Amino acid sequence: MANSKESKPKEIKKVTTHTLQQMKRAGKKIAMLTGYDFSLARILDDAAIDVILVGDSASNVMAGHETTLPITLDQMIYHASSVVRAVKRALVVVDLPFGSYQGNSKEALNSAIRIMKEAGAHAVKLEGGREVKESIERILSAGVPVMGHLGLTPQSIYKFGTYIVRAKEKAEAQRLLEDAAILEEAGCFSIVLEKIPAALAKEVSEKIKIPTIGIGAGRHADGQVLVLHDMLGINKEFSPRFLRRYLNLYDDIKKAVGNYIADVKSEDFPNEKEQY
Ligand code: KIV
Repeated sequence: MANSKESKPKEIKKVTTHTLQQMKRAGKKIAMLTGYDFSLARILDDAAIDVILVGDSASNVMAGHETTLPITLDQMIYHASSVVRAVKRALVVVDLPFGSYQGNSKEALNSAIRIMKEAGAHAVKLEGGREVKESIERILSAGVPVMGHLGLTPQSIYKFGTYIVRAKEKAEAQRLLEDAAILEEAGCFSIVLEKIPAALAKEVSEKIKIPTIGIGAGRHADGQVLVLHDMLGINKEFSPRFLRRYLNLYDDIKKAVGNYIADVKSEDFPNEKEQY
């Protein structure tokens, strides 16, 4: 008889919002990547990523829109449910899309509940500071964990006008520091800091107890996030200073597809062994 101890499947320790807070306290960095579909989310989870963000950047990288504004709540739920089906360990955080939470805390709560119920997500993320405090509190009152997002907030791109670094001036930096404290006080479990000076991200990360996750915010944030398609090099046009590319998949995929086309045209594929 097989030893029952040996045949027991290895228990997977799931990452929770509490895990992230413990990681900050222990000085361990948090690794987050975006994910939008089942197949790639399965690889991210298998590689032991801590957090998968089903970002509204899906609007850009999956649907080809210029901004994050057009993606709908139904589309976010579709992406999120595909990711959740793939994941055994990572925490899955899902962006509330533009127009699903701003200015109406009841609608914010309904949107968050749909994401949790229909996609099986673990938490939601929304953009903004004091102006979304009421929405955050209402979502939290239903037991849904909330991640904040300060600095460059792409859903407000038409207000900012450009994607340049935010909070370089003293007044905007001061406001961001205050907003970080307001989000912590409201009950957010973590805050994304996008495209702000490294010194400011350091100051925020030291001032608040909840973990910060930076993108273009330097090395002192408590964790880092990148858009998966950018770091895999699937996208060639987007090359900001903060982006480190780990692969050059655009060229690799193009080469593989070129080889396939050549094999089909030359009747090399399929061969004898590849047929029934
Ligand atoms: O939607 C997204 O991908 C994001 C990250 C850039 C943080 O919000």
